[in-house]
Amino acid sequence: MTATLTLALSKGRILQQTLPLLHRAGILPAAKLTSGRKLVFETALPHLRLVVMRGADVPTYVRQGAADMGIVGKDMLLEQGSEGMYEPLDLGIARCRLMTAAPLGWQPDGRRIRVATKFPAVARRFFAERGIHADVIKLYGAMELAPLMQLADMILDIVDTGNTLRANGMQPVDLVAEVSSRLVVNRATMRSRHDVIQELVMALSKALCEA
Ligand code: ATP
Ligand code: PRP
Repeated sequence: MTATLTLALSKGRILQQTLPLLHRAGILPAAKLTSGRKLVFETALPHLRLVVMRGADVPTYVRQGAADMGIVGKDMLLEQGSEGMYEPLDLGIARCRLMTAAPLGWQPDGRRIRVATKFPAVARRFFAERGIHADVIKLYGAMELAPLMQLADMILDIVDTGNTLRANGMQPVDLVAEVSSRLVVNRATMRSRHDVIQELVMALSKALCEA
């Protein structure tokens, strides 16, 4: 009997944009993915099941082989690293940017910069590469609040329309990375189940072209 492969999906924004892609690729879940408390879903394909989780957890499941494949934002991969995974496909969905941003009119004064972010590893790398001394403050949401409350001088966060920055008197400073969602595959699964993974990559690529 062929072992079932598991595809881990990031919930929220990414899931909303993944659904039409899965549909076009013929990956039809046995129940609605976005309602109820269910987390594991069989599909119309006999050897593929879907699991829904927080985007931040997808790399861990795939790296450890608890899920064979995943769909996750590049921001999460930059933060957590892609070790143990291949990244065969850019799905081009949930596009946004990782940027630094600061209050309008803010100027560095030569002292250490305090940077609030959900992405501490990305922030440390970004400032270190530029020889800038930065104290990175890890937060879990509403980054724009940190400069308003004098907790930080700058933020490093996701920017899409820029509305959140504008609404809080801030402006983007530097582009850190372009972000979109990626298909990731566990390295061992890629070797042991190459044919079936390749089939799935092809089906998703075709679905992207039809979008
Ligand atoms: P979680 O609930 O898993 O902690 P979250 O609530 O921030 O995270 P979402 O905002 O639904 O989850 O999705 C986050 C992912 O969607 C990001 O990792 C990023 O890849 C992508 N994304 C695209 N546009 C945006 C945006 N405007 N804001 C945040 N994330 C975005
Ligand atoms: C994200 C991000 C920004 C905002 C950017 O927050 O952290 O605050 O979206 O989008 P914009 O440029 O279109 O305004 P989200 O809505 O995910 O809430 P969060 O702060 O809880 O992460």
